[in-house]
Amino acid sequence: MPERRKPPFGKTRRHSMKSMQTELLPVTPSAIARASQRLRAGALVAFPTETVYGLGADASNTHAVANIFEAKGRPSFNPLIVHVSDLATAKRYAEWNAQAENLAQAFWPGPLTLVLPRLEAASLSSLVTAGAATVAIRVPAHPVAQRLLKQFDGAIAAPSANPAGQISPTRAAHVIEGLGNMVSAVLDAGPCDVGLESTIVGIEDAGSKLRLLRPGGLAREDIEQHLGAALETHQTPGLISAPGQLASHYAPKARLRLNATDWTFDEKRLGFGDVDCDLNLSTGRNLTEAACNLFHCLHLLDAGPATTIAVSPIPNIGLGQAINDRLQRAAAPR
Ligand code: TXA
Ligand code: MG
Repeated sequence: MPERRKPPFGKTRRHSMKSMQTELLPVTPSAIARASQRLRAGALVAFPTETVYGLGADASNTHAVANIFEAKGRPSFNPLIVHVSDLATAKRYAEWNAQAENLAQAFWPGPLTLVLPRLEAASLSSLVTAGAATVAIRVPAHPVAQRLLKQFDGAIAAPSANPAGQISPTRAAHVIEGLGNMVSAVLDAGPCDVGLESTIVGIEDAGSKLRLLRPGGLAREDIEQHLGAALETHQTPGLISAPGQLASHYAPKARLRLNATDWTFDEKRLGFGDVDCDLNLSTGRNLTEAACNLFHCLHLLDAGPATTIAVSPIPNIGLGQAINDRLQRAAAPR
């Protein structure tokens, strides 16, 4: 039977879902089993990955996946990443080729998402891929995500567990703050290690073209060094092919001022390196540490009345590229 989608097929309304009591679960074996059962029953469960917390649903259940869009207020033309426990399971959902094998062998499990042709026979709701012929797929490294995926034994669709357009969650408390009462349960494993979403690489033309669709927690340079070749960059103005590409995204309530080398008295100061500031992403100018701290610092500085957050310049190399990508979108006109 064809799946039914709710019109209008644009941005979904939030808060029309029935409000529920969100359960904060510890990461014990019985709690993970409970989380898996809830997913099987069609509920939304937020879970930790090494990048950010994900808002999970059974990827084969259209009703459950529709609830992700509704809970986040996410436009339904924006497809979701499918999470699986290992490479063998990934092959149930995507058409494989030598380049995909190469990148998966090198970087999975880890903060890398591959976009590949979707297997016709895959048991995925077409809402997951927003009707596209491709699927974004990832094997997360976080031990709790791994245990949940093994127990669930299937594909979990999961965007970052935040309201659409707002700051991504790197702690269970961020999930409760943004989506509390719209999620059945949150598995709380403390702060995420990487702190930025996965890097997305599109594998096109059976592997002859590799395109960086979103910079993220795996540095572009690491991928290019492994390939011995440069990745193409995504640049099709007006066409959203991996929209964290929406201009305004990751946005705090506050205004954001970038590349700040001095501050005005009324600004909150987010520093990098040896600077006098309210919060520092990394005093030792370590980009891995800065990436890990970014969203949490933005959450902290954004508490209270809206103001301006001024951010130090971040070098545009390694993870700095993904940090600057997030900051530029967070600063974009809303
Ligand atoms: O680290 C991450 O990737 C986190 C964790 C939870 O895994 N997930 C995440 O999901 O960041 P989300 O929904 O916030 O971002 C997924 C991005 C979106 O920009 C979406 O447009 C893109 O992936 N995407 C999904 N399917 C795609 C496809 N078939 N082709 C191109 N882009 C796709
Ligand atoms: Mg997101």
